[in-house]
Amino acid sequence: MKKIAIAGTGYVGLVTGVCLADIGHDVICVDRDQHKVSTLNNGYPPIYEPGLNELMLKNMEEGRLRFTTSPSVGFEDAEVIMITIGTPQNEHGTLDLQYIEQISKEIGRSLKRNNVIIVTKSTVPVGTNAKVKSWIQSEIQTSLKFQVVANPEFISQGSAIYDTFHGDRIIIGSDSKEALNLLEELYQPFGIPIFKTDMNSAELIKVASNSFLALKISYVNALASICEQMGANIEDVSFGMGMDSRIGSAFLKAGLGFGGSCLPKDTHALVQMGNDAGEAFNLIKEVIEVNKRQELKLVEKALNRFHSLHGKKVALLGLSFKPNTDDIREAVSIKLARHLVHEGATVIAYDPVSIPNAKKVLGELISYAETVEQALMNADLTFIVTEWDEIKNVPLNLFHELMKDPVIFDGRNCFQLESIKKFPVEYYSIGRPNVIGETISVRR
Ligand code: UDX
Repeated sequence: MKKIAIAGTGYVGLVTGVCLADIGHDVICVDRDQHKVSTLNNGYPPIYEPGLNELMLKNMEEGRLRFTTSPSVGFEDAEVIMITIGTPQNEHGTLDLQYIEQISKEIGRSLKRNNVIIVTKSTVPVGTNAKVKSWIQSEIQTSLKFQVVANPEFISQGSAIYDTFHGDRIIIGSDSKEALNLLEELYQPFGIPIFKTDMNSAELIKVASNSFLALKISYVNALASICEQMGANIEDVSFGMGMDSRIGSAFLKAGLGFGGSCLPKDTHALVQMGNDAGEAFNLIKEVIEVNKRQELKLVEKALNRFHSLHGKKVALLGLSFKPNTDDIREAVSIKLARHLVHEGATVIAYDPVSIPNAKKVLGELISYAETVEQALMNADLTFIVTEWDEIKNVPLNLFHELMKDPVIFDGRNCFQLESIKKFPVEYYSIGRPNVIGETISVRR
């Protein structure tokens, strides 16, 4: 059992803290946001993540998990300090390290023990851990020794707890063998393969992995556009490709592209790292470009179908960047909503959990529905943006029963073409043939 302090209670910090407490460590999470810390101390996580609230409460009750705003209370006694502070992207596409620098210096000022291990879990450019080391060193008044380990995080939103206990690998990188061995011991109870390497390689593995996932998504989305022109079906093409174990079936789902807090940021970061290294990474630049084009696919299809969206009522289903999270960072829904309004449409959106977050960004630009049915009522078009189970399982008869004109633009290929054919709807999806229901083709 180790005494662990987590610096930053964002999504990575909170999930990591809760899971490390659950395998028996004594965890204290430090965050300067007073409101967040009091909410957490009252037993409420500030984010929606399946299973998080229950696990958090259990570990708080069992006395292994605490929250504080005080860096000295948090860091003074810790044997291991994990940095899980955000690294937002600045306007030039580089990762902003000012918060990492601040917290590193704060840690340096608070250190009281010898041989504390500082672990960076935040996604950072190559070379940052070396900077973390010097930022901490610059604030240490005594001759205390400490070690720094790069330990990038691979959990996905919506399945973060599951991923922490069942991930494919844990990557740790440091120039200190002792530090690597101690971390290996700390993580052992998860039973996940641990790969030990140097600091720079560990840092690069994270950005390279996320960019590779983005590459798979853009690859399949670019193929989807070819399928549309050639009369092929991207779902079958992806499935057939994924049967080759060298390719793998994961991340070959065509749709409106990738969003969220990681893939968009990490692809830009890799391009930037390539530039810094004098090795332009044009392949990843194209991945970003394909993703940008993909965002507007549904609007293009709708404009092809209707010529103008002026005065049309659009039901927008799904706001979060992916299902099972309330995160709307880099969510295609936000861009689509703005675009639709710009085209003169009125938008009514439904999402099982993300409406409060969307309201903070979109405000009254659009209206919000409490149910799928309410969103569909008298709509001229439906845009499906996030493949929540609740949205994938909408009874197909609802579209023609509730909508004024049952025209569906599905950005996540939620429905089987064979099923949708049985209903009097027009259905346009990504990389698959359009479906014009029997009754509709007679009517028009
Ligand atoms: C990602 C990485 O997967 C994770 O390892 C890392 O720690 C954090 O970044 P996350 O951002 O939570 O996780 O979501 P992810 O499941 O990777 O999806 C990212 C985006 O890609 C979503 O917008 C999703 O809709 C899209 N996506 C994913 C596709 O369009 N097609 C796919 O086949 C898979």
